[in-house]
Amino acid sequence: MREYIEIEGGTPLRGRVHVSGAKNAALPILISCLLAQERCTIKNVPFLHDVGITLHLLEHFGATTERIGSDVSVSVPSLRATDASYSLVKALRASFWVLAPLLARGGAARVALPGGDAIGARPVDIHLEALAQMGADIHVKHGIVMATAPDGLHPADISFRFPSVGATHQIIMAAALTPGVTTIRGAAREPEVVELCRFLGMLGVAINGAGESELSIKGARELGGGTFSLSGDRIEAATYILATAATGGDVEVVGFERGYLGAADEVLQRAGITLESIPDGVRVSCSGLSPVEVATEPFPGFATDIQAPLMAALTTANGESVISEQIFEGRFGHAADLCRMGAKISIDGRKAVISGVENLSAAPVEVRDIRAGAALVIAALTARGTSQLSEISHLRRGYADLEGKLRRLGARVAVRLADAEDFMFTGC
Ligand code: UD1
Repeated sequence: MREYIEIEGGTPLRGRVHVSGAKNAALPILISCLLAQERCTIKNVPFLHDVGITLHLLEHFGATTERIGSDVSVSVPSLRATDASYSLVKALRASFWVLAPLLARGGAARVALPGGDAIGARPVDIHLEALAQMGADIHVKHGIVMATAPDGLHPADISFRFPSVGATHQIIMAAALTPGVTTIRGAAREPEVVELCRFLGMLGVAINGAGESELSIKGARELGGGTFSLSGDRIEAATYILATAATGGDVEVVGFERGYLGAADEVLQRAGITLESIPDGVRVSCSGLSPVEVATEPFPGFATDIQAPLMAALTTANGESVISEQIFEGRFGHAADLCRMGAKISIDGRKAVISGVENLSAAPVEVRDIRAGAALVIAALTARGTSQLSEISHLRRGYADLEGKLRRLGARVAVRLADAEDFMFTGC
C-alpha cells in the first residue's frame, strides 16, 4: 500500500526546527570513501532514501558500511568491483560520481549513464572531458561509460565551460588520488564542494581554493581515514524558512550555516521575510510576502534547489513575481500542480510569472521530484482545506522526518496509506 501525506492548511508554523545534515554533501563524501584505504566515519548523516541507495552502491564495490544513529562508517580496504550497471545508477543520479574514484583507485570503471530526469537532460560531457584530460581512455557505448587508466591518471590543468557541481565533485575525487597538482578553473563554488574538500583534506589531500572558482588539488598515492561531521542542509533550511513565511509563522531554524544560503539570504529578505541571526541558525518571521524577481544561478547565486519552494511561497505574495530558471531547462513541473491549487502562474520557456492570489485551495497533487514536493508541501500548508500529496517517495529522498518536524511546528500533517482508513500517524 502506498503512503500519501495529508496536510490541512492554515496553521502558522511556530517553534524550533533542527535541519538534518546536508544531503548534497553527504552523497559525494560517502562516494569519496571509495578512495580511502582506512575506515571513514561521517557524522550527522541524514536519514534519507538517497543515503541508503548510496550505501548499497558502496557495498557493491566492496565497502563494509555501518550506521549507528546519524553516524555512518565506511571501510573499503580494497575494491571488489569497478562496474555499476544501469539498475544500480538509475535510482540516484549522484551514483555516476563513482566513476572517478573507481578509475583513480582501480584503474578502470564501467558505469552506466544516469540519463535525464524530471528536471532536465543532465548531460555529463564536462565530467568525461575532464577525466580524459587526466589521461583516462573513455568510450561510451550502449549507455555505458567505459573508462580505463591502467597506468594511473595524471594531473592536469582543466577549465570547465560551466561550473557543474557534479563534474567538480568528480574531478576533485579523481585528482585526490592522483599524485601531483590538478587545477580546475571555473569550478563550482557550492558549499557541498567545500565540504567534500574539507573531508578529503582530512584524508590527506592538500586542496587550495575550496569555494573559489579556481581549485588546486595536490593528490596523494594513498588516502587515510578519519571522522568528519557534516554541516546542516541549506536547502532544507530554506524550505522551512519559506514554509514559515508562507504560513505567517515564527520559527527558529537551526543546525545550519547562514552563510551557505548565498544569494537566497537576500532574496528571502526582499520577499518580506525577517531573518534574524541566532546561534546556529536564524529566527524567521513574516507578516506578508512581497513579490520578487529572481534568477537561479550557480552558487553564490540563488540556488535552483530553492526555486520550487520559493515559487510556492510567492503564489500568495502581494503582487507579481518573476522567476527565471537558468540551471535546468525543465524545472517548472511543480507550477501546474500549484495552479491546480489556485495559484496564478504562467510559464514562458525558462521564465515563470507568478501573480499572487489571496489564498490557495487544497487539492490532491502528485510529487514529481524532491524540490517540487517541497513546493507542494508549502502550498498545502498555506491552502484552505486538506490536500493529499501522493508519490511521496521523492520527499523521502530529500527531507528527513518531514512530517515529524512539521507536526512539532504545529502543522496538521498525517501520513496515510492509500487504502482508505488505514494510516500510520495522526496529526489531524
Ligand atoms: C545541480 C545544481 C546543484 C543541485 C543539484 C540537484 C547548480 C550549478 N547545480 O547539480 O546546486 O544541488 O543540481 O538539484 O545549480 N551540465 C552539462 N554537462 C555536464 C554537467 C552539467 O551541460 O557534464 C549542465 C547541466 O545540464 C545543467 C547544469 O550544467 O544545466 C548544472 O549541472 P550540474 O551542476 O552538474 O548538476 P548537478 O551536479 O546535478
